[in-house]
Amino acid sequence: MLPPPPSLLVQPLVENAIKHGIPGIEAECGGACACATCHIFIDPEWMSRLPPPQGDEKELLVELQHYEPERSRLSCQVDFTDALDGLRLAVAPDE
Ligand code: FES
Repeated sequence: MLPPPPSLLVQPLVENAIKHGIPGIEAECGGACACATCHIFIDPEWMSRLPPPQGDEKELLVELQHYEPERSRLSCQVDFTDALDGLRLAVAPDE
């Protein structure tokens, strides 16, 4: 059986950030939603296209010094799909 075409593979945004060497994304917990070192700010225009943070992600975010409810996300909890082509974001400052 052939693997699905790349456009059908869904990866967390953090994996793409690391793959492309985006500075400031540490991802110390490896995407387990336990460290918050993958904190990013998503352009507010794009935020409404994403499901809101839930559970552990929400609990971690609200504890961060630089948390901004309108644009903070943990990049390990955002699935990067074709629908996010063109997504604008910034890496949050270190805590
Ligand atoms: S990589 Fe640790 S919370 Fe996202």
